Amino acid sequence: MLRTLVKDALHAAGPVDTIFLQGWVRTRRDAKAFSFIELNDGSCLKGLQVIVDTTLPDYANVAHANTGASVEVHGKLVESKGQGQKWEVVATGFKVLGEADATYPLQKKGHTLEFLREIAHLRPRSNLFGAVFRVRSRLAYAVHQFFQERGFYYVHTPIITASDAEGAGDMFRVTTLDLENPPKLEGGKQVDNTKDFFGKKTFLTVSGQLEGEIFAHALSNVYTFGPTFRAENSNTSRHAAEFWMIEPEVAFCDLAGNMDLAEAFVKHLIRDAKEHCAADLEFFAKFVDKDLMPRLDFVLEKPFVRCSYTEAVEILGKSGKTWEHPVAWGANLQAEHERYLTEEHFKCPTTVYNYPRAIKAFYMRQNDGTAEGRETVAAMDLLVPGIGEIIGGSQREERLDKLRAGMALHHLDEKAYWWYLDLRRYGSVPHAGFGLGFERMLMFVTGVGNIRDVIPFARTPGTADF
Ligand code: 4AD
Ligand code: MG
Repeated sequence: MLRTLVKDALHAAGPVDTIFLQGWVRTRRDAKAFSFIELNDGSCLKGLQVIVDTTLPDYANVAHANTGASVEVHGKLVESKGQGQKWEVVATGFKVLGEADATYPLQKKGHTLEFLREIAHLRPRSNLFGAVFRVRSRLAYAVHQFFQERGFYYVHTPIITASDAEGAGDMFRVTTLDLENPPKLEGGKQVDNTKDFFGKKTFLTVSGQLEGEIFAHALSNVYTFGPTFRAENSNTSRHAAEFWMIEPEVAFCDLAGNMDLAEAFVKHLIRDAKEHCAADLEFFAKFVDKDLMPRLDFVLEKPFVRCSYTEAVEILGKSGKTWEHPVAWGANLQAEHERYLTEEHFKCPTTVYNYPRAIKAFYMRQNDGTAEGRETVAAMDLLVPGIGEIIGGSQREERLDKLRAGMALHHLDEKAYWWYLDLRRYGSVPHAGFGLGFERMLMFVTGVGNIRDVIPFARTPGTADF
């Protein structure tokens, strides 16, 4: 007999004479004439109540159906006489597949998130993490839907790379060399990297952007969606060493078009989650973040604020706040500044644009007419309340001479980027793109406060379990 998912049983149009379910026991309560079992199969937040009559031949099995056990139920779907559910199952057959004894760690509710991280192999079976990972799955689908419906092509950019896309150097090395005894160059001191697997030094990618740009110069509108890796030693609630990023790259597009795309994209993801993950979001609103629904509605209704970096520095300077990191034109905005702008000053998602050239990546387009000593590039960061930066992007420098100057400013070796420079030699076009941190977006949509709790298996400094 075909298995019915709990989600579908709960939405049944009418009673069903024979139904077959499989799942895990959340709770069991034994009364005089019946046992009541809450069955959950992960297809949705809610469980389905199963009633097993003590006179049923299979009833002896019920004693083994403890919290966490996997079970199979044949029965009838009938209208529930109890409160809080429309349908319940009256069992005609009941079998335990895999028992779980009293050591099963998810016996009771109310475990701390820290404890649940230590049992990342079991936490998807809890209400909170079931909901998080259903939303994660749905939003991954919505990412593709958004871009595919707008004529973007999905490009699979490499995970192993020889180039540093951000020019920031926070990369994990990939090597098959024997680290205890590496081959040496003549003279015997330096490591001979030509003997490594790829014949040169390679790393895990920090971004698919540069390869995305190659494809934008051929297919016009493209996006990547894949894992990226950063070896920054940032032990914060918003940084992971391995995270997923969505990076659209658009030919014939400027910074304003890029901001429009980013805003439409973020709104699409929120709208999609509200439509397709309503029960899970309700759960977050009840148990994780009371202000979740009004915040999401607010984001959908209002246009995002756009504010230049120079204006932002003025606002921060006049705020009357004392900052841990001083505010001055030319310094990078820190999390405390970003959060003040979006949470306290504008109280709205805010795109800060036109940053000082010296603090941004080499590939960003130099703005015309900016004063000596106050040179800016066409960069943009989207900041949202509660998190800060969720998107970083820019219009790219399409002029060969300016790009070379940018590389010189950042002390990058032109030889390593020869193919990137070629894009400016052959059919160069104005183009722009951005990267959305998928986990940061999930934090925003669910209200979950730590990045470790929106990724199945977090990789952070000192932790790579499972
Ligand atoms: O601002 P970032 O570094 O931009 C880039 O990588 C560009 N190449 C993107 C582009 O223009 N195509 O990173 C983009 C976003 C950030 O805004 C943030 O949401 C996320 O990626 N991010 C991280 N998320 C989790 N953990 C980290 N360590 C992250 N670093 C960046
Ligand atoms: Mg950034």
